[in-house]
Amino acid sequence: MSMTLQDKVAVITGGASGVGLGIAREFVAQGARVVVTDLRKDRLDDAVAQLGPRCEGVVADVTRLADMELLYRRVEARHGRIDAVVANAGIGDHAPLGRITEEQFDRTFGVNVKGVLFTVQPALPLMSDGGTVVVIGSTASVRPPAAMSVYGGTKAAVRCLVRAWIQDIKGSGIRMNVLSPGAVDTLSLRRAAEQARGADGVAPLLASMGEGNPTGRIAAPEEIGRAAAFLSSDASSFVTGVELFVDGGMVQV
Ligand SMILES: NC(=O)c1ccc[n+]([C@@H]2O[C@H](COP(=O)([O-])OP(=O)(O)OC[C@H]3O[C@@H](n4cnc5c(N)ncnc54)[C@H](O)[C@@H]3O)[C@@H](O)[C@H]2O)c1
Repeated sequence: MSMTLQDKVAVITGGASGVGLGIAREFVAQGARVVVTDLRKDRLDDAVAQLGPRCEGVVADVTRLADMELLYRRVEARHGRIDAVVANAGIGDHAPLGRITEEQFDRTFGVNVKGVLFTVQPALPLMSDGGTVVVIGSTASVRPPAAMSVYGGTKAAVRCLVRAWIQDIKGSGIRMNVLSPGAVDTLSLRRAAEQARGADGVAPLLASMGEGNPTGRIAAPEEIGRAAAFLSSDASSFVTGVELFVDGGMVQV
């Protein structure tokens, strides 16, 4: 039994940056052939240039079923199958109750919930016994910060989807799990921190974000990548339906 991703065919949505890029980097390092998707070709090209020849990029919006079906037709033509899907593309912004708009609600649920459905469902015909799905959730599923109710709601929704889906696919040999990070040190988090606190405020803000968990720090993207690789490898062959918190213990205390 292989404990790595050697020669597995993986699709990672939203892989041009942040957590998705970290996951793609780990999958390539473990020998997978990786298809990353994202919204913009220029950003995908940059990511593929970093990730090397075992990786290719396909522009696809997870909220558009036609895009996702086209993506999977391309993957089928090139690789014939999918071993691992990582539904990572996700968005979230702040709005306290009283200032939540219909547009924000629809956009966030569109990408984070409908997008997960459109990522997983059309992939299934290309998957077989041993296949894996990892949905990237968030600690916000159980501990949503103030002004993040809509985002937290989407992340609670996807853990519910996965718990029902593992029953729907019973007997297929395909496993599905949710991987829920706490704060991760990504470019987008650093940009948001800079907007909020200015350039000098980034390091102190990131440090303070880590203080709320027992490790006292936030995650590096590759730490999320290694956990996603575990859930996508045969090493986790009897793990399905869990929400694995990769958060330095934050929601356990
Ligand atoms: N960064 C964190 O601290 C953190 C913590 C917990 C969970 N997460 C989750 O990790 C995932 C990735 O977040 P991130 O922090 O890396 O964000 P990010 O903005 O750096 O990356 C998200 C990527 O998804 C892409 N994307 C957005 N909408 C898309 C769509 N409709 N179709 C395809 N691609 C789309 C973006 O272009 C971007 O490249 C999300 O699901 C997020 O909720 C992140």
